[in-house]
Amino acid sequence: MTRGVIRGARIASVGISLPERVLTNEEISRTLETSDEWIRTRTGIRERRIAAPDQAPSDLAAEAGEHALQRAGVSAADLDLVISSSLVPDMVFPATAAVIADRLGATNAGAFDVQAGCSGFVFALASAVSFVGSGMYSNVLVTGAEAVSRALDWTDRSTCVLFGDGAGAVVVVPDPDAIFTFDLGTDGSGMPLLNMPAGGARLPASLQTVEARQHFLKMNGRQIFRFATRAVAGSCATVLDAAGLSVEEIDLFVPHQANLRIIDNVAKRIGVAPERVFTNLERYGNTSCASIPLCLAEAEESGRLKDGDQLLLAGFGAGLSWGTCVTTWRAG
Ligand code: ACO
Repeated sequence: MTRGVIRGARIASVGISLPERVLTNEEISRTLETSDEWIRTRTGIRERRIAAPDQAPSDLAAEAGEHALQRAGVSAADLDLVISSSLVPDMVFPATAAVIADRLGATNAGAFDVQAGCSGFVFALASAVSFVGSGMYSNVLVTGAEAVSRALDWTDRSTCVLFGDGAGAVVVVPDPDAIFTFDLGTDGSGMPLLNMPAGGARLPASLQTVEARQHFLKMNGRQIFRFATRAVAGSCATVLDAAGLSVEEIDLFVPHQANLRIIDNVAKRIGVAPERVFTNLERYGNTSCASIPLCLAEAEESGRLKDGDQLLLAGFGAGLSWGTCVTTWRAG
């Protein structure tokens, strides 16, 4: 049983941070054998942001976190916990969350990282909602932050065109009326399909690993495409069933922004109307753990996400992993 209902916690606010540098498909195609047309038609992506050389995930997360704290009216000193999610964290250790907490001045908070591939934000959100819903903590910051461009092989056209950098953060607070329903899943046999082979304890950094380009993201795109459409559609059905909701009751579906064709395919399979699906990957690419909070912030800002809306979130990625949740959105 992977699904569960948690009462007593809600998202109070969202904050984001985006690097200034915009990298268009056209610019990539000047140095790589690809084209704007290929990238757009296969993925839906037109451009992405690239972190500045001195920007790490923790820098972007701290900025997003500051905005989220301001909007929630919560001070950093009042945070009980900081949970960070990144596909590619600042370092193997210490936890990126510890660096974020220090940057924010969250001196009374514990801090830890979640590693669940691109599903990391939903897994981190489930952890935060559980801590707050259980009554253990009152104010928890969840971040999803990436400078994944650093982990891309810019000579590999099948991966480097897909990703982008950015960060989002949410503050989770107590609310006796709030309910989250989650479905979290993992299939570790899919590890070979999406990974960064070197740099950990299994294959430590060496001259050979550098020469073999093993410190870059490796992916079997076709297999991931198949996994994503099947797993996400199944997980959405599971979570809707557990929440006692029909898909017609969902006001906004926010899927992980990996590929527009995956999103369209999943939306069709679960039967959600296209106008209720939020996408922004055309401007940011796949920002991994940051993609869902980036969507939430833009959906709220543009009026697509309103108080009382039923919200369905779905992440998927390395592990292989998937994480889906449904909740009622409360503004402020
Ligand atoms: N430009 C031009 N041609 C390319 C490019 C490119 N950027 N990339 C690949 N091609 C070529 C291939 O070499 C291949 O050529 P060939 O037929 O001569 O061998 C051809 O295009 C078709 O390649 P496919 O891999 O079959 O292309 P496909 O239609 O499957 O699209 C893609 C590839 C976009 C990667 C797709 O498989 C996909 O999106 N998969 C899911 C990836 C994903 O979602 N990853 C992230 C999930 S988790 C996370 O977020 C970390």
